[in-house]
Amino acid sequence: MVLCKHKQPSVPIPTLLITLLFFLRVFLVDCQILETPSPPSDFLIPLIPDILNFLDQRVVQVIPIIQTFKNTITSDPFGVTSTWVGPNICNYTGFYCGNPPDNLTATTVSSIDFNGFQLTAPTLDGFIDQLPDLALFHANTNNFSGTISPKLAKLKFLYELDLSNNFFSGVFPTSILNIPTLSFLDIRYNFFSGTVPPQLFMQNLDVLFVNNNNFMLTLPTNLGDTPVVYLTLANNKFTGPIPRSIGKTSSTLVEVLLLNNLLTGCLPYEIGFLGNLTLFDAGGNLLTGPIPGSFGCLKKVEQLNLARNFLYGEVPEVVCALGNLANLSLSYNYFTKVGPLCKKLIQSGVLDVRKNCISGLPDQRSGKECMAFFLVPRTCTHPRPSSFNIVPCQIHHWTKPQEKTKRHLLSYSALSRNRLVL
Ligand SMILES: *[C@@H]1O[C@H](CO)[C@@H](O)[C@H](O)[C@H]1NC(C)=O
Ligand SMILES: *[C@@H]1O[C@H](CO)[C@@H](O)[C@H](O)[C@H]1NC(C)=O
Ligand SMILES: *[C@@H]1O[C@H](CO)[C@@H](O)[C@H](O)[C@H]1NC(C)=O
Ligand SMILES: *[C@@H]1O[C@H](CO)[C@@H](O)[C@H](O)[C@H]1NC(C)=O
Ligand SMILES: *[C@@H]1O[C@H](CO)[C@@H](O)[C@H](O)[C@H]1NC(C)=O
Repeated sequence: MVLCKHKQPSVPIPTLLITLLFFLRVFLVDCQILETPSPPSDFLIPLIPDILNFLDQRVVQVIPIIQTFKNTITSDPFGVTSTWVGPNICNYTGFYCGNPPDNLTATTVSSIDFNGFQLTAPTLDGFIDQLPDLALFHANTNNFSGTISPKLAKLKFLYELDLSNNFFSGVFPTSILNIPTLSFLDIRYNFFSGTVPPQLFMQNLDVLFVNNNNFMLTLPTNLGDTPVVYLTLANNKFTGPIPRSIGKTSSTLVEVLLLNNLLTGCLPYEIGFLGNLTLFDAGGNLLTGPIPGSFGCLKKVEQLNLARNFLYGEVPEVVCALGNLANLSLSYNYFTKVGPLCKKLIQSGVLDVRKNCISGLPDQRSGKECMAFFLVPRTCTHPRPSSFNIVPCQIHHWTKPQEKTKRHLLSYSALSRNRLVL
């Protein structure tokens, strides 16, 4: 293809294209326009007025960027890229145009939704970071890989970024820390590794899903600075105790998934401050100590999972008294006692205490196993032991059974790789 060999747009291309509109399509599809030294729009616009005049300048500028990206796609099982032809990019499957906030009379590519397209491309570099007006990018279940470009920080309107269920790797994409508009970040089910920058918890996000990666980090003490409503850190290698600062999220945090990490230490009393929490799941960690009585203040909690840890002591009756509890999962720990309210919950199938050390209940650990556990002296120095008995709220004794909702909570959807959460 002769046209493509000309990296300098100045000499032969204009004369050819000016009359042969047909070549526009071929040119855009087959050439690496982005590699030309001057911005492509400089020569395309005056040359093909009939086609491009009715298009907004901001749309015209991104045509070559999309075509360059299209050329990097090696697999497209649903054939979506076959619609990515011609200058009318607002009609391309997956692309949506809108009016940018800085000029409401202009038209631009404002969002991209590739969810489930299963496109394979080696990188998104040079693509989304070159779409300056992008507000939403959703790409759940594709075959994108590589690392995330630092240039992403240029996207000044970006507020939803969903890269979930792809093959991205490398360190946490710190460039997103410089996008103040970002409110939804979903990078679950990738191969990111290393640490998560503590600044992430200072960012003004509503939703943060980083579950099912290879992050390895002691939970930062500033975790509680986060204003997120939904937080999933599950299925990584986070270590250290749950920071006491988590209590600071009381006016915002609704669901938190910490399951299947390597968290240690005792449950902080401050979790009891989270009055809006509906879901708390820290199952499958290395947590120890008793359940603080403050958990009896989680008056909205529906799902509380602490199974598969090293927790012990009595299951607090104030917790079993929580009116909205639909599932209290404490199996595979070392609890030794349950009171009458908890026994009722066992009967109704809400409380699961299988494989503990509670005498008189079926399906418990062997005496030998329990003895071996309690032979090792166990104390919680953090938080201070006395805090375990404090219940910092007024306890209601429910006279009639509450309406128990078994609805599927939003964060649990994030544990399925191709489930869409939005
Ligand atoms: C683009 O989509 C609009 C609205 O659906 C339609 O009217 C128009 O014919 C389409 N244009 C092209 C070139 O497909
Ligand atoms: C806004 O966009 C329109 C359409 O592209 C353009 O004509 C106009 O010059 C722009 N206004 C500003 C202030 O940039
Ligand atoms: C996704 O990419 C992997 C390699 O990175 C490849 O083995 C697999 O076939 C690709 N899947 C599809 C649907 O193209
Ligand atoms: C629950 O959230 C509301 C609204 O964000 C807030 O005003 C309230 O203080 C929170 N409740 C508790 C118990 O923290
Ligand atoms: C309760 O929660 C646990 C832990 O998430 C889960 O394994 C179990 O299936 C749930 N039980 C019911 C009845 O939903």
